[in-house]
Amino acid sequence: MGKKVLLVGGGGREHALAWKLCQSPEISELYVAPGNAGTEGLTKVRNVPIKATNILALAAFALKEGIEFTIVGQDDPLALGIVDLFQSHKLRILGPSKMATRIESSKVYSKELMRSVRVPTAPFTVLDNYPNAVVLAQEHFGNKNLRPIVLKASGLALGKGAYVCRSYKEVLHALDELMIQRIHGSAGDKVVAEEFVDGQEISVHALCDGTSYELFPSAQDHKPIYDGDEGPNTGGMGTIAPVPWFNHHDFVRQCIIEPILAGMQRDGHPFVGLLYPGLKMREGWPVVLEFNARFGDPEAQVYMRLWESDLLKTLWACVDGRLRETKIKWNPGYAACITMASARYPSPDYKKGMPITGIDKAQSLPGVVVFHAGTQMVNGQLVTSGGRVLYVTAVGATLKEAIYRAYAGVKCISFEGMQYRKDIGAKSLNK
Ligand code: GLY
Repeated sequence: MGKKVLLVGGGGREHALAWKLCQSPEISELYVAPGNAGTEGLTKVRNVPIKATNILALAAFALKEGIEFTIVGQDDPLALGIVDLFQSHKLRILGPSKMATRIESSKVYSKELMRSVRVPTAPFTVLDNYPNAVVLAQEHFGNKNLRPIVLKASGLALGKGAYVCRSYKEVLHALDELMIQRIHGSAGDKVVAEEFVDGQEISVHALCDGTSYELFPSAQDHKPIYDGDEGPNTGGMGTIAPVPWFNHHDFVRQCIIEPILAGMQRDGHPFVGLLYPGLKMREGWPVVLEFNARFGDPEAQVYMRLWESDLLKTLWACVDGRLRETKIKWNPGYAACITMASARYPSPDYKKGMPITGIDKAQSLPGVVVFHAGTQMVNGQLVTSGGRVLYVTAVGATLKEAIYRAYAGVKCISFEGMQYRKDIGAKSLNK
């Protein structure tokens, strides 16, 4: 009898993880809560209409169905303590404990940990009340100091809690939203103010079992909505992996991952799960912007296209603290992922309900697989239902080939008002 597995989340990351998990001969049934129209179409998968944040209902479901292993995609159930809850019921689950998840869910904890173990990160101050924050902003921008600063809500804010401020006026606007209007709720009760770091963004995930870890190839997300990195930030408009010019894996191991894991071990909260430092290149070296405690989205989409060995086996061994006994086998080529978004995204009033065509045609092209995020079946017709709608991924022997194939897939797909960046990976092709 195969294993019953539960995957928590409903975006493109979870479709990619589900697609890869379905290839494991050891899985007989994969439940995805809540899943999306893409996961529903996979063999072995059954979507379960339970929200990822309803951790009590998820635990009850896992107990009732005899789920043998749970994998958590999204950040908020981790921050709510899903791992502690499942473990208290002797349910096997992959992810960090609530306390360890603070590396993502509390920017204050994360920055203080980085400082204590000397991980390279921008200098920072913690602001915990509005009047003091205003005084600090006056001091910073008073002396004709034009260096931008970044204000970040300490808590989780759906990726929207960071403000790059280039003037005193912009700081006041950010503080007003965070601390007076409280648009991100209690996430903005404490705010981290740090120096702005300019440079290319990189991420290198590490799968950690509490003592040892396995470092992934590098990946690069493209956050701004428009070509040339213009416009407001989004959840991610496309990714490539590996990044051909990035050759700092030893530095990431020795100066970032290992000190952080040791620091968390020291604090009594060893990290188990996916540790994903968001990095920026400053003067040729990586600096940590933030840590995430889960797979990136859309980084998971390119990682799953390159991951060749059995995903379930590795993740299962990770929970047992046996990561050293497994070896992830990676495709030696490249992967690219292009996000197709709704009209007006990233504004929250993006258009919904637009019929989507061409996915089968895209997937008939060499190397192309399409992952869903904001899609829904209505009366047998696939329609848009979110800001980021689809992720068109492709693998290739070279980065150029992977990107070319992914865009060939994009050109087959159509829905009214669709927008996508035309320059994903271009910076790395020109290097
Ligand atoms: N790639 C951005 C994120 O997952 O947070």
